[in-house]
Amino acid sequence: MLKSFLPLSAVILFALTPTPSQGSKQENATPDAAPASAATQADAATNPVKPTAESQAKARGLYLIDCAMCHGDNGNGQTDIVKGMGLTLPDFTDLKTLAGTPDGQLFNIIRNGKDKMPPEAAGRANDSLVWNLIVYIRKMSK
Ligand code: HEC
Repeated sequence: MLKSFLPLSAVILFALTPTPSQGSKQENATPDAAPASAATQADAATNPVKPTAESQAKARGLYLIDCAMCHGDNGNGQTDIVKGMGLTLPDFTDLKTLAGTPDGQLFNIIRNGKDKMPPEAAGRANDSLVWNLIVYIRKMSK
């Protein structure tokens, strides 16, 4: 009786005990799940990227996928989705719109979202791409 009971309980215990490899996987997962706020910039931060034709082409590609549905291909903010939501969006084609907002502040708005605007997650656009997006939308007024 005792002989057959002991090995069985050992099997159950083994099955219920987390293995070391499971534990270390969880630890490794933590940096990936770092909050977006970890990348928050000082509002007065200046744009650290030197835009190239290639980086601006990437920024334009991302803009057309993630931003244009609301802000419009040309940035004037006159899109059906926005009208449907009853919103008025900033007009990026007007130089005055972003003139008073430093790049660091725009970075935080894009990264963290604002009111009805969704955040742009680090997994979709790294910091350098967000800075390039800011260069791209500022050029819409030219
Ligand atoms: C779901 C619609 C939507 C999408 C998608 C969207 N935005 Fe916006 N955006 C808004 C709204 C609404 C506002 C106005 C927020 C406010 O001030 O209340 C806004 C404001 C802004 C502003 C102006 C902030 C300010 O106060 O000066 C910038 C810059 C901006 N968006 C950039 C972007 C970029 C870049 C993307 C793509 C990565 C993007 N937005 C995607 C809806 C959107």
